Amino acid sequence: MGEPLVVVSNRGPVGFRRAEDGTLSSVRGAGGLVTALRPLVDRGDVTWVASAMGDVEQELAGEGPREEISAAGTPFRLRLVSHDPETYRLFYGVVANPALWFVQHGLWELKRDPAADLTVPWRDGYAAANRALADAAIAELDLRPGAALYVHDYHLYLVPSHVRSARPEARIAFFVHIPWVGPDDWAVLPSAIGRAVHEGLLACDSVGFHTERWRSAFVAACDALLGRGEDAERVSHANPIAVDTNEFDELAASEAVRARRQELASERPEILVLRVDRTDPSKNAVRGFEAFGRLLERHPELQGRVVLLALLDPSRQEIPEYVDYRTATVAAAASVNRTFGRPGWEPVRLELRDDFPASIAAYTEYDVLLINPVMDGLNLVAKEAPLVNERDGVLVLSRRAGAFAELGEWALGVDPLDVDEQADALARAIALPAEERRVRLAAIQARVRAHDLAAWADRELAELDARTR
Ligand code: F6P
Repeated sequence: MGEPLVVVSNRGPVGFRRAEDGTLSSVRGAGGLVTALRPLVDRGDVTWVASAMGDVEQELAGEGPREEISAAGTPFRLRLVSHDPETYRLFYGVVANPALWFVQHGLWELKRDPAADLTVPWRDGYAAANRALADAAIAELDLRPGAALYVHDYHLYLVPSHVRSARPEARIAFFVHIPWVGPDDWAVLPSAIGRAVHEGLLACDSVGFHTERWRSAFVAACDALLGRGEDAERVSHANPIAVDTNEFDELAASEAVRARRQELASERPEILVLRVDRTDPSKNAVRGFEAFGRLLERHPELQGRVVLLALLDPSRQEIPEYVDYRTATVAAAASVNRTFGRPGWEPVRLELRDDFPASIAAYTEYDVLLINPVMDGLNLVAKEAPLVNERDGVLVLSRRAGAFAELGEWALGVDPLDVDEQADALARAIALPAEERRVRLAAIQARVRAHDLAAWADRELAELDARTR
C-alpha cells in the first residue's frame, strides 16, 4: 500500500449515470488527464476530490464521500464537491475555459479579448469553486495525517494557497497538464489574476510540467510578475506524463476494440490518415483539414486512395467559442469532401462522438497520424496511438505539442499555423520507405514503454519527497 494521497482535479476519475429505472452506473471519466491519472488509485490509499458535474453527481455529492473500486479492483474514496450552477458556469465556462485555457494555448485574440470584465467571474466563480474544492481537500487531509495533496491543472491554481494558509505543514504537489506561457502572454489578464495564479503554484512544494519549455516559461513569469524566479526554479521540474502501457496493451486486445477493428478493416482505404482529438480550438482540426485538401490538390494520384478519418470528441459545448469552432470544423471537412469527393470515395470521414474503443481500433490501423495542435501541454494521443499501431504508421507532429520534445526526433515536425508545411509533411509521410517507417515507429514505442506511467508517478512522488523531507 502506497503512502496516503489526496488527489484533486476538477473532473473526477468516474462519471455517473442513472438509468430510467433508477439504477446507478459509473462510467470512465472522459479526457486525457483522467485517462492518465486513473491508475494512481491502484497505488492504494487514495482519496479523490472532484467537482460534481451534472444532476446525478450533484445528488451523489449530497450523500457524502463514496467508496469506489478501480478497474483493477482497488478501492478508493471519492468525494464529490457540489457547486452552485452559476458559480460553476463562471468558474468553468468563463474563467477556466476559455480565459485561462485560451491564454495558455496562445488562442487569446488581442483585438477582441477580454470580451468582458473578468473580475467578477474570477471572484464569484473561479475563486469560489477553488475554495470549495480546497475546503474538501483540507477535510480529507485532516482525516489522514501525513497524507500528501496532489492537485491537477488549470482549474485549480488557487487550491494550494488556500490549503497552505489553513494547514501550513501540508505537503502539496501540483501538476500542470497544459502549456505555460511567458509574462507578456499573462499580461493580457488583469494583473491581480496573473499574480494570484503564480502565487498559487508557489504555495506548493513541488510543481510538475510536461516539458522544460513550459517549466522555464513558468520561472520567467514568476520572476516578472512576482520577483520570485528563484522560488519557481526551486519548486518546479519537468516530467512528461505517460501511458499505462499494460492497460493499453489489454485494451488493444479487448473484445470491444477487436469488434471496432473489424468494422474499420472492412471499409479501410489503401492509405489511412488519422486524427483523434477533442473538438477544441487548440487542437487545430480546421487547418488539418485544409492541409489534407491541399495534399489532394497537389497529389492527384492520391485521390481515391487516401482517407482522413477524424474521430473528434465534442468538447465543452456549453461555451460559445467551442460551439463556433465545432461548426467551423464540420464546415472545413465538408468543404474538402465537396471539392474532391466522388461516388464511392469520401476523402474526409468525420465522426463526432466519444467512442474510446473506436479510437483505439483506429490507433492500430493508421498509416499516418496527424497531430497538429496550435499548442498542447503534451498530447497523449502522440504516445497512445503509436504504442498500439500495427502498420508502421508515421507520426506528423506539431512542434508546439509538449510530446515533440520527447518524440520529435522520430516524427515529421510541423508548424501548426503553416498549412503548406502540413500538406508537405503528409505527402512525405505517405511516401516514406517501409524500413524508415518501421524504425521510426519502433523508436517511439521503445520510448513510450521506457518512460511509462509508473515511472512518471514514481518521479512525481519522489520530487515531492525530496522537497519536503
Ligand atoms: O489537461 C487538459 C484537460 O484536463 C485534459 O486532460 C482533458 O482531456 C481535458 O482537459 C478535459 O477537459 P474537460 O474536463 O473540460 O472536458
